[in-house]
Amino acid sequence: MQADLVVVGSGLFGLTIAERAATELGLNVVVLDRRGHIGGNAYTEKEKATGIEVHVYGAHLFHTSNERVWAYVNQFTSFTNYVHRVFTRHNGEVFPMPINLGTINQFLHAALSPQEARDWVREQAGELAGTDPENLNDKGIQLIGRPLYEAFIKYYTGKQWQTDPKDLSASIIRRLPVRYTYDSRYFNDTHEGLPTEGYTAWFERMVDNPKIEVRLDTDFFAEGELGRARVLGQVPVVYTGPIDRYFDYAEGELKWRTLDFEKEVLPIEDFQGCAVMNYPDLDVDFTRIHEFRHFHPERDYTKDATVIMREYSRFAGRSDEPYYPVNTDEDRATLLRYRDRVKEEKTILFGGRLGSYKYYDMHMAIGSALTMFENKIKPHFVSGEAFV
Ligand code: FDA
Repeated sequence: MQADLVVVGSGLFGLTIAERAATELGLNVVVLDRRGHIGGNAYTEKEKATGIEVHVYGAHLFHTSNERVWAYVNQFTSFTNYVHRVFTRHNGEVFPMPINLGTINQFLHAALSPQEARDWVREQAGELAGTDPENLNDKGIQLIGRPLYEAFIKYYTGKQWQTDPKDLSASIIRRLPVRYTYDSRYFNDTHEGLPTEGYTAWFERMVDNPKIEVRLDTDFFAEGELGRARVLGQVPVVYTGPIDRYFDYAEGELKWRTLDFEKEVLPIEDFQGCAVMNYPDLDVDFTRIHEFRHFHPERDYTKDATVIMREYSRFAGRSDEPYYPVNTDEDRATLLRYRDRVKEEKTILFGGRLGSYKYYDMHMAIGSALTMFENKIKPHFVSGEAFV
């Protein structure tokens, strides 16, 4: 196919750009991905022995209050009525998360009213009231008081960052949510659910168009007909890979956290009774366990086995999958230098979480791609405006 537009990366950002460009503008779009599948980190696949849908790069729950995004995604999939709830196992007891009135009353073996719970948290947080904490540990105590912070946040955060929270910047957290009701829903958005037929069916529908060609196992930086050297300057490109990699790390490396996953198939029907259980204590190394059957209670999954996945967190090296931006002051300064370099590029647009060095939920990646399509891509192909 003679491409009018090349999209590097088939995550939700790249898929949205490709779908819009092909469907609305009739462009020939080539999407390339260095992985062997589409969907980026939201990719899921059926575990072979059980048929249970496994979220390969960590649990992905769709939620949004953005009506434009909700209308857009519903063209490709319907959603189940799944409502995400998380539990946390502390000191041999299971509590609901995020911290709510149920968590507090169970923690205190009490029956506090909402106002009594508020007063108790305020009193505990008073320990560091009026100070300006520099590290995450003090900030956590100041926000919700030492008892709740030390039980549910301190070691969990320490495990996530592989760093003592006393050595982490206070700027990592602005707030720690506490709900003074028994509402234990994880998300507050208007719309929430999981794609009825799974993520893969959703993504395949987005590129089910003869105008879209997908090339997997194809790295933009490798030699070849779709490599950077051959494509750049010839065809407009939307690039959703890591921004520092694009510039050969000339301004330095941006830091990321990565995750390691340990999957196990167990010969029992149900391991933990919920989809996600956090482990905030120090006696286990992992941060949480996912049990995938609970994402789809409506499906007729086998009762003979279940699939669980332990999640471990650490800093990423160059060959690891980058998951969460670390975003230190140094990273932000590095990013600004890359942004200056981006201004010199005339035929390539940068987007998505890797191209922006920004954590995006799925609905944000889609919303941001729709905006790039309307503001940059459409004006270029319809009215001849500059691509960048
Ligand atoms: P994404 O990373 O998905 O895609 C980028 C693609 O570019 C990848 O497929 C990559 O292989 C490809 N690529 C990179 N370099 C390339 C190169 N040189 N050549 C070719 N291809 C290249 N969101 C949410 O809404 N609910 C949730 O529950 C979660 N949960 C969650 C858990 C974890 C562990 C993470 C890390 C993230 C989430 N998310 C999430 C966020 C969600 O994953 C995110 O919004 C989307 O992945 C963003 O899509 P992008 O297209 O920007 O990136």
